[in-house]
Amino acid sequence: MKKMMAIILAAGRGTRMKSDTPKVLHEILGKPMISYVTEAVSQVGIKNIVVVTGFGSDKVKDFFYGTKVKTAAQKKLSGSADAVSAAKSQIHSVSDVMVVYGDTPLITKDTLKLLIEKHKSSGASLTLLTAVLKNPVGYGRIIRDTDGRITKIAEDSEVREYKKEIREINVGTCVFTRVDLLEALKNIGCDNSKKEYYLTDAVKVLAGMGKRVESVAMENLDEMTGINSRVELAAATSVTKNRIVEELMVSGVTIQDPATTTIYPGVKIGKDTVIYPNTIIESGVKIGSKCHIGPFARLRGGTIIGDKTEIGNFVEIVRTHVADSTKIKHHTYLGDAKVGRLVNIGAGTITANYDGKNKNKTLIGDGSFIGVGAILIAPVKIGKKALVGAGAVILKGQNVKDGATVVGVPAKILKRRASDRRKGDRR
Ligand code: UD1
Ligand code: CA
Repeated sequence: MKKMMAIILAAGRGTRMKSDTPKVLHEILGKPMISYVTEAVSQVGIKNIVVVTGFGSDKVKDFFYGTKVKTAAQKKLSGSADAVSAAKSQIHSVSDVMVVYGDTPLITKDTLKLLIEKHKSSGASLTLLTAVLKNPVGYGRIIRDTDGRITKIAEDSEVREYKKEIREINVGTCVFTRVDLLEALKNIGCDNSKKEYYLTDAVKVLAGMGKRVESVAMENLDEMTGINSRVELAAATSVTKNRIVEELMVSGVTIQDPATTTIYPGVKIGKDTVIYPNTIIESGVKIGSKCHIGPFARLRGGTIIGDKTEIGNFVEIVRTHVADSTKIKHHTYLGDAKVGRLVNIGAGTITANYDGKNKNKTLIGDGSFIGVGAILIAPVKIGKKALVGAGAVILKGQNVKDGATVVGVPAKILKRRASDRRKGDRR
């Protein structure tokens, strides 16, 4: 959809967050809330996205640096219409402009799609996303004439007594035709108690010129939640968590206790894998099918797990590949490791991957058996079908050969196996 661009308003300070971090950079499951908005927008096919920055502008710009999302700075925060004007020089060669608030991370591509379709099919100058709320206090109200045509949005502070029963509100997301947006911006004043330029006054301006303003009513009210405080941030995190686990369950993953399971966006999990309670799986993790994960497991970024593998209680794994049918069942930390198939990692095994300067690799070959409480000081390589005794400490660079058995602190070779002797190993 080349012909539509999106402007995401994110200049607001977010005073109620009580934070030095701009509001839109506060994270939901490891990702700033504004990324959820830019992703929903790009999922409907809009490639040209401009984020308007203000408070903490440099931090927001840095966040988008090197991505396709552009930014425009609003010098003084004098209202949402002024914020859109800050992006004006970037409004060209498009037919329509979508405006979304950067602090509404729960908005979905499906809703944006409905809004776009309505805008296109109705040929309106402006199409608003609206919602009907039990308690509309705090929101701009949609004012209609006797024929049901939208004539104006009354901001909460400007709502007169007799309009207070109106429960249809402005969500904030809308689509303008470019020409009408530019026309409206020219005519919006700041004649209100806050002396701000309200984008919502575009409705009055355009309706007054006899242009059509349409609306789409939102069905799932979760989606319109604007985040103003950390309490709302936690509520939005909970909604996001539920969406992710639900999608995984629908795709064939068993999640025993969704309430205590945290799965970040972008995690891939195969069919018939079971996730036990109190498990955390962070972004970028891939898990195969028929695995058992948890309870109380934490899988961090860069972790790839094969099929039929078991990861148990109090196991933390980061930047590690674990192949099929391996068991890592209790109290283990694996970092920067590569673990083969049919490996057994005993309880309490630890990779010492960090030497104070670098993160080093641990390789564990297919069919190996690592005894309980082993410490593997990386970089280190353990061959195939090797056996590491309980409590052994394998020193840095001490590579254990295929089939060897090592025990002790530091680990020494215990014996050669018959299979090694047959191969004529003379060591
Ligand atoms: C706004 C709407 C209101 C709607 C409500 C939905 C306006 C005037 N009112 O009210 O009709 O019901 O959202 O939540 O838009 N912003 C800037 N620069 C500014 C001012 C605001 O970028 O100078 C951005 C904010 O970061 C925010 C958005 O615009 O993303 C909306 O501003 P906000 O102050 O939150 O407006 P509300 O009073 O919530
Ligand atoms: Ca708001």
